[in-house]
Amino acid sequence: MKVISEMLEAYTKEIERAKHAYYILDAPYMPDSDFDLLEKLVKITIEQKRQWKKYFDRINAVGTKPSARGFAKVQHAVPMLSLGNAFSDAEVAEFVERIRRFLKLAPDEFPAIVAEPKIDGLSLSLRYERGELVRAATRGDGFTGEDVTANVRTIKDVPQTLTGRNIPAACELRGEVYMLKQDFLALNKKQQEADDTVFANPRNSAAGSLRQKDVAITASRPLKFFAYAWGEMIDRPADTQHCMLEWLRGVGFVVNPLIELCHSVEDVLAFYRRIGEQRATLGYDIDGVVYKVNRLDWQERLGFVSRSPRWAVAHKFAAEQAITILKGIDIQVGRTGALTPVARLEPVTVGGVVVQNATLHNEDYIRGIGNDGQPIRDGVDLRVGDTVVVQRAGDVIPQVVSVVIDKRPTSAKPYAFPHKCPICGSHAVREEGEAVRRCTGALICPAQAVERLKHFVSRLAFDIDGLGEKQIQEFYDDGLIMHPVDIFTLQKRDARAAKKLSDREGYGDVSVRNLFAAIDARRKIELNRLIFALGIRHVGEGNAKLLARHYGSIENFRSAMAEAAAAQTEEGNGSDAYADLNNIGGIGDIVADAVVEFFAETRNVRALNDLLAEIEVLPVAQARSDSAVAGKTVVFTGSLEKFTRDEAKASAERMGAKTSSSVSKKTDLVVAGPGAGSKLKDAEKFGVKVISEDEWLQLIEG
Ligand code: IVH
Repeated sequence: MKVISEMLEAYTKEIERAKHAYYILDAPYMPDSDFDLLEKLVKITIEQKRQWKKYFDRINAVGTKPSARGFAKVQHAVPMLSLGNAFSDAEVAEFVERIRRFLKLAPDEFPAIVAEPKIDGLSLSLRYERGELVRAATRGDGFTGEDVTANVRTIKDVPQTLTGRNIPAACELRGEVYMLKQDFLALNKKQQEADDTVFANPRNSAAGSLRQKDVAITASRPLKFFAYAWGEMIDRPADTQHCMLEWLRGVGFVVNPLIELCHSVEDVLAFYRRIGEQRATLGYDIDGVVYKVNRLDWQERLGFVSRSPRWAVAHKFAAEQAITILKGIDIQVGRTGALTPVARLEPVTVGGVVVQNATLHNEDYIRGIGNDGQPIRDGVDLRVGDTVVVQRAGDVIPQVVSVVIDKRPTSAKPYAFPHKCPICGSHAVREEGEAVRRCTGALICPAQAVERLKHFVSRLAFDIDGLGEKQIQEFYDDGLIMHPVDIFTLQKRDARAAKKLSDREGYGDVSVRNLFAAIDARRKIELNRLIFALGIRHVGEGNAKLLARHYGSIENFRSAMAEAAAAQTEEGNGSDAYADLNNIGGIGDIVADAVVEFFAETRNVRALNDLLAEIEVLPVAQARSDSAVAGKTVVFTGSLEKFTRDEAKASAERMGAKTSSSVSKKTDLVVAGPGAGSKLKDAEKFGVKVISEDEWLQLIEG
C-alpha cells in the first residue's frame, strides 16, 4: 500500500503542477489527453480506499488559485465549477442512466439534453446589475477569480449593457473567451516578428491576451466570447437550458449556433460524431461536447458531486495522434533574426489532415530540457531518424509529443543546433535566460534585410521623406536597395541605369528629385540616430542616446567597440572597452553584450563602414562640462529612494560625471542612501566626500 500512496502523492503533485502550468502560466507542458488520463488514473485509485480521499480535494481544486500577477481578487457569488468527463459512448449512457435513477424517471422517459460544443478557451463570469456590466472575473480556483473588468470591456462580443426584456436586477452570466484559429495564427506571426511571446495554441493565446495589465494590449487582440451558463441570477427569465440560451442571445450575447436539444442517447452520440467531423473546419478550437439536462428544476434537484454538476458532463474528443519518422530538422530565420527549428516529417495523416512539418520551437525543445530545467517529453531529445508521435489535439499546429525510443536507429546522433545563421553565416547567439538563438548579422542577413531597412528609415532613425516601409519593400524587391548604403548611392546608380527611377509607376521627375533631395538632407545625421538605425538588439532610442552621449563621436564609438569585439569570447569579455561600455548608467550586461556581438560580426562592421563613406555623422553634444560635478567620479550606494540606480547614474552622466561601482582614492563623491555599508567605510578611509540623495539633487539641479 505504501507503494500506492507514494504513487498517489507523485501523480497528485504532477496534476497540481500541470494545472498550475495550464491555468496560471498559460503554458501547459502536457497534452490535454495525457492530463485527462492521469487524472482518471488517480481518481480510480482514490475511490478504492477511504484513506486516500485526502487526495481528492487536491486534484479537484478547480483551476488553481488566482495568480499574484496583480489583478484584484473577485469572489464569485455562485462558484464556477468544473465538469466531469466521459470518454466513451458507454460512459455517456451511464451518465444518462444515473440521471434517470436519481430523478426516478419512468423507463420510457428520457430527460431532454442540450448538447453544446465544448469551447477550448477560458471561462469568464460577467456580473450585470440593472443590465449594466459591472464586473468581469476569470474562474481562478472556482471560488475566487481575477478582476479583468477593464480587459473584458474591450471584447466586442461582451455587451456592456443588456438589451431587451426580462433583464434581472442582478446576474452573473458566464461563458468562454476564445480566439479564432486564423486570428491566433496571425497574432503569432506578428508576435514572432516582434520577438514577442509566441503562444502554443489559441487557448493560451486567448488567456495570455486577456490577462494583460495593459488593457490596450488586450484591446488589440481579437478576443471573442460565447455565452453558455450563469451563476447568481435574481428572477431567472426561463425554465430550461435551451430557453436560457435563447434569452442570452436575445439580450445581446453570441451563443454557439451548433447547440442542439437531444431526446435520446442516440441523438446525443450522433451530435458528438457530427461535431467531431466538423471540428477541423470550425473556426475555433473545441475539445469535446458538453451535455446538460435541459430542465432547470431538474438541474437543481440533481445538484453537485464533488464540485462538478450531476446534471452535466463533458464528452471529450480523443487526441488525434499518429506515428511517423523525423526526416530532418530545418532552421528558419525570422525577420528579426530568431532561429526556429522545424521538423520535417514523413507525411502522415493526423485526424484527417496531412502533416509534414511541426514546429520544434527552439533548441531546448529539441534537447528535451526546458530553460527552467524541466523535462520536455520526459526529457527525451529528438534525433533525425527518430520514430515520433505527432499530435493535433485540436491545435492548429502539430506537435511532436513523444519519441518511440525503441525504434531509435543506433546511428542517430544528438542534434547539434547550429551556432551560425543558415542564411548569412553570421554567428547566432543566445542570451542568458532566453530560449531563442539569434543571428547577429543585423545589417547583412538577407532573412532580416527588409525589416532592418524599414527600421533604418523609420521616424526615429534616418526618417527620410518619401522613403517609407512601402517604398523600401518595393526597392528591395527590385534589388535597388539591399543594404543601408544603397540608399545613399541610389542617385549615382540611377544616373547610370538604363531603367530610371522616374520611369517607375507612381514616380515622375519631380518625385524622384524630391526623393534624392530628402536622402541628401540626411547625409548629415546625429550619432544617436545612426546608432539607433543600426538595429542592434536591445538598442532602442533611449540606449542609442546613452551610447551617443557617452562616446560623443562615431570614431570613438567605433574604435571602442572594435576593441571590445576583439576581446569577445564565449566566456566573457575582460577588455577595458567592455568595462567602460558596461559602466554607462542604464547600459547593463544584456545591452552591452548585444552591442559587442554586433561589432564582432565583421560584415556588420563592413556594412557600417560602407555607409560611413557616404554620410557624415554629427558628434553629439558631450555631457555637460559646466556642471558642478563635471569630470568627477561618483559612486551611488545604499537604497536610493528618489530614483532608481540607473536613473541616478544617468543623471550623473548627463551632468558630465563618471559613475563607478566601487569607492577608491579616485572617487570624488559618494551619494549614500539608507542602509549604505562598506562603501561608506571606504569613503571614510579614502577621505571621499559623502552626501545624501537630497544634496545630490540640489547639486545637479543647482
Ligand atoms: S458548462 C457547471 N458549457 O469547460 C458547469 N462549460 O471543464 C459549467 N466549457 O470551466 C460549465 N464550453 O471553461 C460549459 N458549452 C460549455 C462549455 C464549457 C467550454 C469549459 C468551461 C468550463 C470547463 C469545464
